[in-house]
Formats: sequence, structure tokens, C-alpha cells
Amino acid sequence: MSKIVIECQDISCYYEKAKPVLSNLSFAIHEGESVGLIGANGSGKSTLLGALCGLISHEGVMQVAGLSVEKVNLPEIRKKLGYVMQDSDNQLFLPTVYDDIAFAPRNYGLSAEDVERMVTEALRRTGIEHLKDRQNYKLSGGEKRMVCIATILAMQPEIILMDEPSITLDPYNRRTLIQNLQAMPETKLIASHDLDLILETCERVILLDEHGIKADGDAEVILTDEALLKSCRLELPYCYQKVVPLKKG
Ligand SMILES: Nc1ncnc2c1ncn2[C@@H]1O[C@H](COP(=O)(O)OP(=O)(O)OP(=O)(O)O)[C@@H](O)[C@H]1O
Ligand SMILES: [Mg+2]
Repeated sequence: MSKIVIECQDISCYYEKAKPVLSNLSFAIHEGESVGLIGANGSGKSTLLGALCGLISHEGVMQVAGLSVEKVNLPEIRKKLGYVMQDSDNQLFLPTVYDDIAFAPRNYGLSAEDVERMVTEALRRTGIEHLKDRQNYKLSGGEKRMVCIATILAMQPEIILMDEPSITLDPYNRRTLIQNLQAMPETKLIASHDLDLILETCERVILLDEHGIKADGDAEVILTDEALLKSCRLELPYCYQKVVPLKKG
């Protein structure tokens, strides 16, 4: 099997040390795997992703790209890790769309020509060429989301963490996102309530409940197990549900 790129052994993550949000969590993700991270509101998905980036405190063995997640290694880890945050406003920090997407390529010390090429390619792949010169703070929620995804494409990281990537996206942009995810060979850990997106983009699922990891295995097996999903306050993906239109009168 390929090498392990994300490893957690008996970790806990916390905002206040005395009250860990996640405890006794162990799992390993191998290079090239696409893993869906699912669980009810408040189950700790964003906390886990934040901890893997070193933004939230943890105890226990946590390694990303072979490096222990600790202060001294964070600059190196963050070069290898692309992170789409749950809240786009926390992610976009430069005035224009172009500047935000160009941030990582510029940091790699590339020539202006190469930066331009990478930004243009990221804009093309996300279908947002028309937003290139817009100011970030004037974008709609879905437009910001697509810009966040484009920043990650331009970064070309080894490992991608995405927190609710399809949130606020219209069906067309959601489909573009799914196609991009399917085409990306990188290791991916995707937290989402969009279980249909997880089904289409991940071969493995980690299901969190209030006690930790409730299930970890084949995505199709877990996402068709209605009793398991219900026990964690989730439902089957929409593609497996019968939807009855509301009738008036
Ligand atoms: N900054 C914070 N300080 C203290 N507690 C927090 C903080 N952020 C989140 N929490 C708590 O940690 C727990 C896990 O939250 P988290 O955001 O990781 O859940 P989630 O699975 O991502 O939920 P959602 O599906 O709503 O995005 C929740 O009980 C939440 O209230
Ligand atoms: Mg969250």
C-alpha cells in the first residue's frame, strides 16, 4: 500500500484543554486516497480539519506529510496542505480574486508569467474567469466559494482538506466542483453534509459521532446503511431517497 500522509493515533482536539471536542481518535490516510468526513452538526469535522492544519490544539500523535503537527513544522506542513475553510470569509484575505488565487504561486517564487499561467488555469477549471478582477468582499457567497476552491487548485498542494466545499454553490458550480475533485489525484479529506458529493468523490468515509469515529470504511457501504446514518442523526444521500413533491389542498 502507498505511504501514509495523514496519521492520527489516539488524538484529542480541544479549544479548552479540560473539554476536548474529539477524544481517542485514530486513523491513517494513504497517499492518493479520497476520504469523506461526515457527521452531524457539532460532531467535530471542522475541528479535526483545523487541528490537522495546526490551527486548533491537539494531544496525541498527529502527522501530516510525515511531519508531526507542531509549531516548528507548520510552515513546511502548510506548503503541502491546501485547506478550503467552512467560512469563505475566513479564507479570502486579499483585496481581489486575482491576488488571492496568485498568493500561493507568488509565494513559491515563480515568475510573473508562471503565476499568470497558474491563476488563469485555476480560473478556467473553476469556470470563474469573469470574476478575475473583482473585489472579494463584493462577491456572492457561492462566488466566494468558487474563488476559495480556485486558490487551492492554483496552490497544487499534495494534500487537500475541504470543509463543506459545496455549501452555497448552485447546481452547475457544484457539478464543476465534483468534476474537479474527481480529476484531482491528490490525497483528499472532505468534510460535508452533501452526502451525494461524498459518494461521487470519495471511496472511503469516516463517520463521526459524539463519541468519536463511529465507522470508517467503504463509502458506498456506509452511505447506504440507513440505520447507521440515522443513529448518527444523518440520512441516506438524496440519490437513495424517495422524494415526494408537496401537493396543495
Ligand atoms: N472556537 C470554539 N470554541 C469552543 N468550542 C467550539 C469552537 N468552535 C467549535 N466549537 C465546538 O466544538 C464542537 C465541534 O464543532 P465543529 O465546528 O468541529 O463541528 P462540525 O462537525 O464541523 O459541525 P458543522 O456540521 O455544524 O459544521 C461543537 O460542539 C462546537 O460548539
Ligand atoms: Mg463544520
